Amino acid sequence: MTIKKVVVAGGGVLGSQIALQSAYCGFDVTIWLRSEGSIERAKPKLERFKNIYIDTLEQMKTDTSAYCRGLTDKTDLSDPELDELKQKAQTAYDSLTLTTSYEDAAADADLIIEAIAENPEQKIAFYTELAKYMDEKTILVTNSSTLLPSMFAEYTGRPEKYLALHFANTIWQNNTAEVMGHPGTEQEYYDEVVKFAEDINMIPLKLKKEQPGYILNSLLVPFLNAAQALLANDVADYETIDKTWILATGAPAGPFHILDIVGLTTAYNIIIMNPDAQNPETIPGKIAKMLKEKIDAGETGINAGKGFYEY
Ligand SMILES: NC(=O)c1ccc[n+]([C@@H]2O[C@H](COP(=O)([O-])OP(=O)(O)OC[C@H]3O[C@@H](n4cnc5c(N)ncnc54)[C@H](O)[C@@H]3O)[C@@H](O)[C@H]2O)c1
Repeated sequence: MTIKKVVVAGGGVLGSQIALQSAYCGFDVTIWLRSEGSIERAKPKLERFKNIYIDTLEQMKTDTSAYCRGLTDKTDLSDPELDELKQKAQTAYDSLTLTTSYEDAAADADLIIEAIAENPEQKIAFYTELAKYMDEKTILVTNSSTLLPSMFAEYTGRPEKYLALHFANTIWQNNTAEVMGHPGTEQEYYDEVVKFAEDINMIPLKLKKEQPGYILNSLLVPFLNAAQALLANDVADYETIDKTWILATGAPAGPFHILDIVGLTTAYNIIIMNPDAQNPETIPGKIAKMLKEKIDAGETGINAGKGFYEY
């Protein structure tokens, strides 16, 4: 099978990036959105990301550190070659089709990438409706960060062609794609999805079985929790904790800098899933209180100009 037509369902933070990246790499891309309002909200995101692609490619002419793996696998392109890629980004953006019609979106789709809200009921409702329109051949993947494909496989009408393809935010730079099947996923379709990930300049990271949080968050979440516990327990200040990690491991950033990048609101939403967070005497309770105070003060991380550090 050759994947040609790709549909991205959802045009939020991730959906818009996945759609543009797929089009940039030459795929015929349709974005399915649930309402005209969603279409209007998706458009400025797509335009913003297209401008970032073009600006980054322009920057590469004078600054080799601006090279992004998702935009090119080369590191020494000439100015005319970079101009060609800028044109490619513009053409990709212009080529995107946005629709609210299940029928138009699903018609002849080879791959549908679901990137709608992280809500199980809403994902089930979407899959149940979509299943009525999909071609026999269509492979369906979810970009869900926290939910497992086995929770949804039965609603897709094609459990053997359903799996997870999980991107990281800013996919043109952080070009990881975690590929994870459920027990009923057939290898043939898993392999197709791995190939597609490579074809859109991602680095596929293959999981052999289902794992909540995939590889990255299985490592990152306990690491960040451990760092926050040290702070909440008054063992050391955040700068000392970061310095320890950076000096001792050679890592470029410590956990509190990473928390500023992830965003403190996300960190707070993760910690309050722990029932202990309700009790202010427990470590999760102390972490939740600390994060809540910073969020209330507007210090939510890099995007706000201040989190643990100032930017
Ligand atoms: N934001 C991230 O950093 C990130 C990273 C990796 C994976 N993800 C995953 O990607 C998915 C989307 O996340 P996001 O950050 O892009 O979300 P978002 O809130 O920015 O966008 C969600 C999109 O889905 C649409 N939508 C919401 N509810 C819907 C429904 N019931 N039916 C149809 N469409 C609906 C919205 O209109 C919007 O276009 C989630 O599963 C999330 O876990 C997010």
